[in-house]
Amino acid sequence: MSQKALVVETPKTPFVLKSVPIPKPGPNELLVKVMATGLNMVDRFVQAHDLLPNMKYPLVLGFDAAGSVEGFGEGVQGYTKGDRVYVFYCFISDAGGMYGGFQQYTIVTVDHLTKASLTIPSNISYAEAASLPLTFCTTAIPLMAANPIGAGLNPTFDPKVNFNGESALVIGGSTSVGQYAIQLLKYVGYSEIITYASAKHSEYLKSLGATHIIDRTDVPLSALPDAVKKVTSSPIKLVHVAFVQAPDVMEIGYACLAHGGQMPTAHPLPTKPKDADATGRKIYGVYASTKIDPNIEFGKVMWKNLYKLLEEGVIKPNRVENVPNGLAGITDALLRFDGFSVSGVKLVVNPQETP
Ligand SMILES: NC(=O)c1ccc[n+]([C@@H]2O[C@H](COP(=O)([O-])OP(=O)(O)OC[C@H]3O[C@@H](n4cnc5c(N)ncnc54)[C@H](OP(=O)(O)O)[C@@H]3O)[C@@H](O)[C@H]2O)c1
Repeated sequence: MSQKALVVETPKTPFVLKSVPIPKPGPNELLVKVMATGLNMVDRFVQAHDLLPNMKYPLVLGFDAAGSVEGFGEGVQGYTKGDRVYVFYCFISDAGGMYGGFQQYTIVTVDHLTKASLTIPSNISYAEAASLPLTFCTTAIPLMAANPIGAGLNPTFDPKVNFNGESALVIGGSTSVGQYAIQLLKYVGYSEIITYASAKHSEYLKSLGATHIIDRTDVPLSALPDAVKKVTSSPIKLVHVAFVQAPDVMEIGYACLAHGGQMPTAHPLPTKPKDADATGRKIYGVYASTKIDPNIEFGKVMWKNLYKLLEEGVIKPNRVENVPNGLAGITDALLRFDGFSVSGVKLVVNPQETP
C-alpha cells in the first residue's frame, strides 16, 4: 500500500511530493493516519540548512502532527483503531528518516509514554493538537522542570503552587512558545505578566493571561528594560525569552532580570553571562524533546498533566491557520518562516487533503 509523502531526498534540497510505501509498525510502535500536521520554523531550517545533527536521508520532516491510530506493532497494548493521538517527532524511534508528519501515515513509538499521555482530549481538534507538542515542550521544560533543567516553577504541575504578588516578563509573547509561557505563568499564579509583542495581538494575549503588552512595533528591543520599569515597580524575577532570533535578545532579557532571578529561554544553548554567579541570575536553555535525557522524567509528568489542562481549558492551543492543498501546500507555507512573518497563529496542513 502506498501513500503520499513530502520528502527531502538529500541534505539542503527542495521537498519532493511522491508516493512511498505506508510504513509498517514495529515493536512498540503505532501506525497513525495523519489528520493534521503543524508547521514549525525548524522544519524550514532543517530542509534548507540541514540544521540538526544525525538526520537520516531520505527524510520526512514534520515535527508536530496529530492523527488516528490505524495499526499496532508487536507488544502494543491498550490502543484501539481510531484512537486520537499526538505525533511528535521526538517520540519516534530514530532521528530523522521517514517518520515525520509530512506524510499521510506515520509511526509513533509508545515505549516511554502511557496512552493517557499520547491521547488528545476530545475537546481539542486534530489541527489544534498538531499546533502543540514542539512549542509546548519548548516552553514547559525550561519554565517548569526542576533545577538545573529548568527554573522549577512547578515540576509536578501541583495546582497549589502560587506566585501571587510576583511579576514576570515574556519576550515574544505572540510566538507559539510565548503564548504557552503566558498561559503557564497564569496557571502558576503570577500577578503581573508583561509581554513584548505586536500590539495587534493585545486582546488575544490578554485573554490568555497577559496583564500588560509592550508594543514591539513601537518600542525597540534595546529600550525594553526602561519600558518594563514604566509598567511596574516590582522586580522581574522571571524573564522568559520566547523568541531567540532577534539580535541581542538574550542580553536584553538578562538586563530586565532582577538579581537572583531566573531566565528560561527557547534557546538550545544559551551562554552564561560573566556576572551570573555574582548576581544570582540563572539562564536555562532547552532541546525541546521529552525523549532525551535529562527531560524524560519531566516529560512523563508534563504529558500526563497536559491532558487535564487542555480538557479544563487552562491551556488553550494556538489559533490555527489551515493551509490548503495538504502536503502540496507546505513548501510555499514554510517560506513564510524566512521573514518571521507568521504572526500569532500556527500554520496547519491536513495531509489527507493532498491533491
Ligand atoms: N530550543 C528548541 O528546541 C526550540 C524548539 C522550537 C522553537 N524554538 C524557538 O522558539 C522560538 C519561538 O518559536 P515559535 O515556533 O513559537 O515561533 P512562531 O510562533 O513561528 O513565531 C512567530 C512570532 O515571532 C514574533 N517575532 C518576530 N520577530 C520578533 C522579534 N524581533 N521579537 C519578538 N518577537 C518576534 C512575531 O511576533 P508578532 O506577532 O508580535 O509580530 C510572531 O508572532 C523561536 O526563536 C524558535 O527558534 C526553539
